[in-house]
Amino acid sequence: MSANSVYLAYLVAAVLFILTLKGLSSPVSSRRGNMFGMTGMAIAVLTTLSLTHNVGLILLAIAVGGTIGAIVARRIEMTAMPELVAAMHSLVGLAAVLVAMAAFNNPVAYGIALAGESLHSSNRIELFIGTFVGAITFTGSIIAFGKLSGKLSGKPLRFAGQHWLNLLLGIAMLGFGIAFFLSPSWTPFLIMTAIALALGVLLIMPIGGADMPVVVSMLNSYSGWAAAGIGFTLNNNMLIIAGSLVGSSGAILSYIMCKAMNRAFFNVILGGFGGEASAEAAGDGVQKTYRSGSADDAAFLMGNADSVIIVPGYGLAVARAQHAINEMSKVLTEKGVKVRYAIHPVAGRMPGHMNVLLAEAEVPYEQVVEMDEINNEFADTDVVLVIGANDVVNPAAKNDKSSPIYGMPILDVYKARTVLVVKRSMATGYAGLDNDLFYMDKTMMVFGDAKKVVEDIIKAIA
Ligand code: TAP
Repeated sequence: MSANSVYLAYLVAAVLFILTLKGLSSPVSSRRGNMFGMTGMAIAVLTTLSLTHNVGLILLAIAVGGTIGAIVARRIEMTAMPELVAAMHSLVGLAAVLVAMAAFNNPVAYGIALAGESLHSSNRIELFIGTFVGAITFTGSIIAFGKLSGKLSGKPLRFAGQHWLNLLLGIAMLGFGIAFFLSPSWTPFLIMTAIALALGVLLIMPIGGADMPVVVSMLNSYSGWAAAGIGFTLNNNMLIIAGSLVGSSGAILSYIMCKAMNRAFFNVILGGFGGEASAEAAGDGVQKTYRSGSADDAAFLMGNADSVIIVPGYGLAVARAQHAINEMSKVLTEKGVKVRYAIHPVAGRMPGHMNVLLAEAEVPYEQVVEMDEINNEFADTDVVLVIGANDVVNPAAKNDKSSPIYGMPILDVYKARTVLVVKRSMATGYAGLDNDLFYMDKTMMVFGDAKKVVEDIIKAIA
């Protein structure tokens, strides 16, 4: 391929990637967005292949990696998606470090130095940035994977002088980076990489389980910047553009999630909340009373309502009750009840978790309403069915200043006339906090597995 055709192909792929992000911003256009992404990636990969001499080796790597990826993707449970994403990010970080090492080992082959000459100064900086961001992403993502999968404790691991140690290591890493810049050799390069690997562990260990989603999205952003850094080294426009898109979209997502969890970004990064909140005992020791009822009672209340809002949460995903809930909505709609779904931005365990589940069950998009839009409507709603959700409907976030989730935006379910809560017990949710909504006079608990309860409700209404 001529140089111009390569530029043109990369430009087309870059435009397709931007259209992908645009498409993914709404469930209606997300399928189209994915098609753009796949086409863009195919163009980018084929163009890059046309530039290489080692096609056989690369195809072999693609076959091995692709097979492993396909098997993992087929086997993975929806609930384990966040940890899979964290594991994937670690590979992007590792790839950035390995590419930088290969480029430094043979700079002539990578076109970043002429035979017999030293590395250009801009390439030294790029190698340094790509390597340390990649190394931090690699080990940080492994720790995030461990915490999310329960292989490591979700509690924040802290010790005295931690921030000072991190600062010291950060300065040392920079020092070896400067040494590498002044005289490129393996010793400063490897020491700098080792420090960055240690920093990845030290930065993520103190962060509690509840903040992990923000961390994963932040690591996603880092992995993008690492790829962009390596794109400069390899003089590959496609990698620079794709890396920057991943880097900036990950940063924006982290910001949105921090807002939705009412966490200051720097507080998340400096560690805290998740483990402490979970460690805090649920309740204050005072015996509180609640009302419970059966699926038949719930069916009666919803069947006679004018409007019902369904609030799905993590338990819906665990029970795989999305198809059943869609069935139930259809039955209610046929009876003339107005049914909508209220979506909290951090309901479930990954961004967009509820949207994905409802889309899988083919719930009509117009019934799915985001938090900001639906919050004004709870006060005029007859019945709210909270199904497997807990933290995202906890009024403590509004009225208890001492609560760790105080200030987090919630779905204002407590304003509705009647609230039905489907879950298996009075157990707490992710943040480990008791929920006053469950003890309100207007609330009726319906205990059981979400799917089973919804199936019973359908039978009772029909
Ligand atoms: P949670 O607060 O975690 O509550 C889920 C509830 O579902 C639990 O109280 C549980 O009660 C119930 N449940 C579990 N399995 C069930 C089943 N088979 N049938 C019926 N109920 C079941 O969920 P949420 O309200 O969706 O809030 C999400 C929380 O996770 C927030 O704290 C958020 O910050 C955090 N988080 C979010 C993300 C993202 S990005 N979405 C990622 C990680 C963490 P029982 O045990 O009594 O059944």
